[in-house]
Amino acid sequence: MKVVESPHELRETLKRYGPNAKIGMVPTMGNLHQGHLELVRRAKNDCDVVVTTIFVNPLQFGTNEDLDSYPQTFDADHNVLETLEVEILFCPAAETMYPQGQNLQTKTIVPDIGNTLCGESRPGHFDGVTTVVTKLFNLVQPDKAYFGEKDWQQLAIIRKLVLDLNFPIDTVGVPTVRAHDNLALSSRNQYLSETERRLAPQLYQQLCSVRDSVQTGNTDYSSEETKTMNTLSTLGFRPDYVAVRDADTLNHPNDKSNTLRVFGAAYLGRARLIDNIPIGCA
Ligand code: PAJ
Repeated sequence: MKVVESPHELRETLKRYGPNAKIGMVPTMGNLHQGHLELVRRAKNDCDVVVTTIFVNPLQFGTNEDLDSYPQTFDADHNVLETLEVEILFCPAAETMYPQGQNLQTKTIVPDIGNTLCGESRPGHFDGVTTVVTKLFNLVQPDKAYFGEKDWQQLAIIRKLVLDLNFPIDTVGVPTVRAHDNLALSSRNQYLSETERRLAPQLYQQLCSVRDSVQTGNTDYSSEETKTMNTLSTLGFRPDYVAVRDADTLNHPNDKSNTLRVFGAAYLGRARLIDNIPIGCA
């Protein structure tokens, strides 16, 4: 595996694989777990060259968020990517990605779909995500790019970015990888104390209850959402939202909604947990 830090070296390294090599890209912020690695395995399976990127993107963190304490485990990440036979690890410095600083950065902004759910409670977050992903797309020029369904809203926003800006890239969504008790794997799970960790799978369980209720014909989404938020509060979470939405547009369900999903976000101690699952019948 070649570790590259500069855009020039990245392009030179990629050229060696020839013009017809199918390039797969897996963007991450490091601290890799089995969720990330599933994306890498999919990319390895589909493509000739896999570029995994590790960049803790300051532009997508709010002022009171965990940028400074975000877990960084470069050596372990490097070793596991080598085991998976990833061809290129691209890990640029912040000065490389934001040569004139973050404030002067040109941004790509995906309207509407980026303002709801997590976008409402983390203003500017998705602008930071779409901007860095646009830059990584330009640098790597992949044929396929892999994103996790755990961050469904992020995936939906990237799909719109790709469509709207005519990126010749196939965006592949990979199902959420969960722990034995169904907690969605996340780098932020390590902020949980032992007691919080035991409680954490309740977020998933509560989303399952909403799904079951909707699947048995309940269309009063709003009262179901409120009830679930109250249950989460009683359990010890500080819920941000529980929402049944159109899976494609993230709008409130309407007659035209083909598929629904239920989304949840809640704080537990220091950690902000998010999860989402499909609803079988719309
Ligand atoms: P990060 O949180 O490191 O996640 C990198 C990728 O791994 C994302 O596509 C995310 O959805 C996926 N992922 C994380 N946990 C997963 C799980 N349990 N199952 C399946 N996939 C999972 O998301 C980001 O980084 C950043 O916003 C990024 C896209 C890299 C832009 O900075």
